[in-house]
Amino acid sequence: MPDSLLKSSMPDSLQTLRRTGGRELSRIIYDEGTIAARVAEMGNAIADEYPEGEPLLVLGLLKGSFIFLSDLVRHIPRPLHVDFIVASSYGSGTTTSGEVNLLYDPSISLTGKHIILVEDIVDSGTTLSRLVPMLEARGPKSLEICTLLHKHIAAHLVREPKWVGFDAPNEFLIGYGLDHSEDFRHLPFIGSLPH
Ligand code: IMP
Ligand code: MG
Repeated sequence: MPDSLLKSSMPDSLQTLRRTGGRELSRIIYDEGTIAARVAEMGNAIADEYPEGEPLLVLGLLKGSFIFLSDLVRHIPRPLHVDFIVASSYGSGTTTSGEVNLLYDPSISLTGKHIILVEDIVDSGTTLSRLVPMLEARGPKSLEICTLLHKHIAAHLVREPKWVGFDAPNEFLIGYGLDHSEDFRHLPFIGSLPH
């Protein structure tokens, strides 16, 4: 049997184990179809919000937002620009260090533009409390946050995201850009790891 036929006849759980190198997930929370439908809705909602002719910059927070952002912008039917910011608030495991380091800063000016900061997940809110004032200081016309996942556990959020894909359970989530020690970003769905 050709390899491609063999793969398509594999049960999903075996495909997943093949992708993870045999590491078991606790469960799949949002499958590919669920994510795709929601991301398309979000893109259209975003497009409706910004007046024609005004510059829109979609600013992805790397690395976690890379898949979400690339799917999202293809569902925003208006002109826009894309740039990235690299900030890391997490160590290599599942606990936050509380620190946010900026490793790459956008090269293009934010002044007078509508900015959408795209996040994979809002957890403690530490990253946002550091980034929002920094970006506001650059004089954007507006600044909104779009996150795929929101855990709703932050004691204080400097700004509530305007767009939220899913209200997520308080578990350690991986896949569709989210990692654990750099593993699992490539999974096409979002799952959780066993405790
Ligand atoms: P915060 O600063 O605690 O809100 O966390 C923001 C960043 O931590 C996110 O952009 C993620 O990169 C990472 N993070 C938070 N929760 C999770 C999770 O459940 N899985 C994977 N990464 C997470
Ligand atoms: Mg991470």
